[in-house]
Amino acid sequence: MNTSVIERYRDRLPVSPATPVVSLGEGSTPLVSAPALSRQLGVELLLKLESMNPTASFKDRGMTVAVSKALEEGAKAVICASTGNTAASAATYAARAGLEAIILQPAGAVALGKLAQARAVGATVLEIKGSFDEALGAARELAARGTHALVNSLNPYRLEGQKTVAFELVDELGELPDLICLPYGGGGNTRALGLGLEELASGVPRIYAAQAAERAPTVASAIRIADPVHRDEAERVIARSEGSVVTVSDDEILEAWRALAREEGIFCEPSSAAGIAALRHVPDIAGRRVVCIVTGHGLKDPQVVEHDTEPPIQVDPDADAIASAAAQAE
Ligand code: F0G
Repeated sequence: MNTSVIERYRDRLPVSPATPVVSLGEGSTPLVSAPALSRQLGVELLLKLESMNPTASFKDRGMTVAVSKALEEGAKAVICASTGNTAASAATYAARAGLEAIILQPAGAVALGKLAQARAVGATVLEIKGSFDEALGAARELAARGTHALVNSLNPYRLEGQKTVAFELVDELGELPDLICLPYGGGGNTRALGLGLEELASGVPRIYAAQAAERAPTVASAIRIADPVHRDEAERVIARSEGSVVTVSDDEILEAWRALAREEGIFCEPSSAAGIAALRHVPDIAGRRVVCIVTGHGLKDPQVVEHDTEPPIQVDPDADAIASAAAQAE
C-alpha cells in the first residue's frame, strides 16, 4: 500500500479536512525477516525498515504531520536542530510545502548523506559551533519568538505522526510482537511508540532502547546526544513495558551494523544497528518474536563504510588479473 501516514490513520491523528496534507508517501515501510540473526539469537527477528521512508529515515512519519500543521497554522518557516535526519526530513517536507527551512546542526558532526539531502532541497544550513544539545536550546529560543515553527520532536505533531509505527506493526502482524528494540537518542521515537501502544490498548511488548555508552562522542552520530530531551517520558514508557534502557559500546554497535549488512543484506546507518546490539544483552528472549526498528539508511553515512570495510582493489581490465584478485580477496 503506497499511501500517506495521514490518509492511512487520519482518524487517529490531529488533522481535519481543512488540513493541507504535505506528503511524499511516507509510512507503509517493509517488515522483513532476518533469518540468519534469528538463528543466532534463537528468536524470530523482524526488521521494520523505517530507512525506506522518502528521506530514508523514520523521521518522515512525524514530519508529514508537523509540516502539514505548520502550513495549516500559517507558518512561513520551520526550524530544527538536528544530528542530520530530522534536518533532511524537515528540509524536504518544507520544500514540498513551499516553506523556508532553517537547519541548525553541530559543526562537523553530521553524516555526509544527511547534509547533502538538506542542501539539495534548498534549506538554509547553519553550522553551530557547539553540540546538538546547544543547537536545540537555541532553536527552542528562536521558535519561542514566534517567527519559526519548531519541528524537532518537541513538536507534539511529530510524536503523533511517529506513533503510527505501532499501528502498522499490528496491521501487518495481526498482533503486537513480544519485544521491540530501537535506538535511543533524544527519546522522541520511544515516547511516540509508547503513545501508539497506549492507543492500541492491546498489551505492551517489552521495549529495549539502546543508548551509546558514551553518548556525546559515539560513532553513531545520529544519537550523539548528551542530554535526552524526552528522557523522563521515554524511560517511563520503557519501565511500564518491563523492558529497559540498554547501554551498548561503539564496538557492539559496529558489530551489529556489520552483521545486519553482511548476513541480512540490510545496509543501515550505525545508530540504526544499536537495537540489535542491545538485543544481545536482553534476558529471556528464546523463541520470542522481536521487532527491531531500523531507523535510518546506510547511504546516509558513507564515512563509516570508508573506515570499517576493505577498500576496492585496483586491477587491470584483464580476466586473469581479475580472477587472481578475486581469489585473493575471498
Ligand atoms: N536513529 C536515527 C537514524 C536517528 O536519526 C535518531 C535521531 C535516532 C535513531 C534516535 O531517535 O532521538 O527519537 O531517540 N535523530 C535526531 C536527528 C536526533 O536530529 O535527526 P530519538
